[in-house]
Amino acid sequence: MLTLSREPDDAEVALFRPEWSTARLDFSRPDTMRDGAPMFRGWAQDPEVSRYLLWTPHSGVDETYLFLARCEHAWREHVGHRPWSIRAGGQLIGMLGVDYFEHRLVVGYVLTRSAWGQGYLTEALSAFSEHALAVPGITRIEAHVHPDNPASGRVLGKCGYVVEGRLRRHTVFPNVSERPSDVDLFARISTGDW
Ligand SMILES: CC(C)(COP(=O)(O)OP(=O)(O)OC[C@H]1O[C@@H](n2cnc3c(N)ncnc32)[C@H](O)[C@@H]1OP(=O)(O)O)[C@@H](O)C(=O)NCCC(=O)NCCS
Repeated sequence: MLTLSREPDDAEVALFRPEWSTARLDFSRPDTMRDGAPMFRGWAQDPEVSRYLLWTPHSGVDETYLFLARCEHAWREHVGHRPWSIRAGGQLIGMLGVDYFEHRLVVGYVLTRSAWGQGYLTEALSAFSEHALAVPGITRIEAHVHPDNPASGRVLGKCGYVVEGRLRRHTVFPNVSERPSDVDLFARISTGDW
């Protein structure tokens, strides 16, 4: 197997803290054996959760283990999408992940349905954004949102993100259509010097 590996730069080291917390939530690097079963039960198999995401619902827990093993690889080798597992009261409730393009980050997130509507993702994204935009060199965080996903747009708005435009026929959302859908580009930028 081809293993892509690289050394993290200073901004990346500051950004990708293995563990961090907010008032109600704990964030940590995913652990395949610990997180696989609760992730599968909690959201990976749920078509309502994945409707506006880029993956189709997992058909068995092995698919979830494989996904998590890839996440662990991404963390270890400093490449690709790196998510944190999110816990509330010790229970796994979702993930917040980042693609790192040096000065620019792209975020994605998901919560199990029973955790929706309690302000958890607003708490998570707002803390993450404050931290990330204070890291020297990071100027911008983006999120790409399907136009029919208002809950995500609302969270972004509450966390200081603005819509910069609609990217037309941009991304295939496999649970919506096999043809590329429009995407709303949200972003928050750092206010400091750069
Ligand atoms: C998007 C998601 C992470 C939000 O998490 P959450 O913890 O429930 O979000 P919060 O409770 O912090 O805030 C949700 C906001 O959206 C609003 N909302 C929820 N459903 C809505 C809808 N259908 N239309 C408009 N607003 C909606 C809520 O009222 C709340 O806003 P308020 O605080 O002003 O009342 C969660 O719904 C989810 O996991 N969805 C599936 C995965 C997904 O779509 N991820 C995003 C991909 S871009």
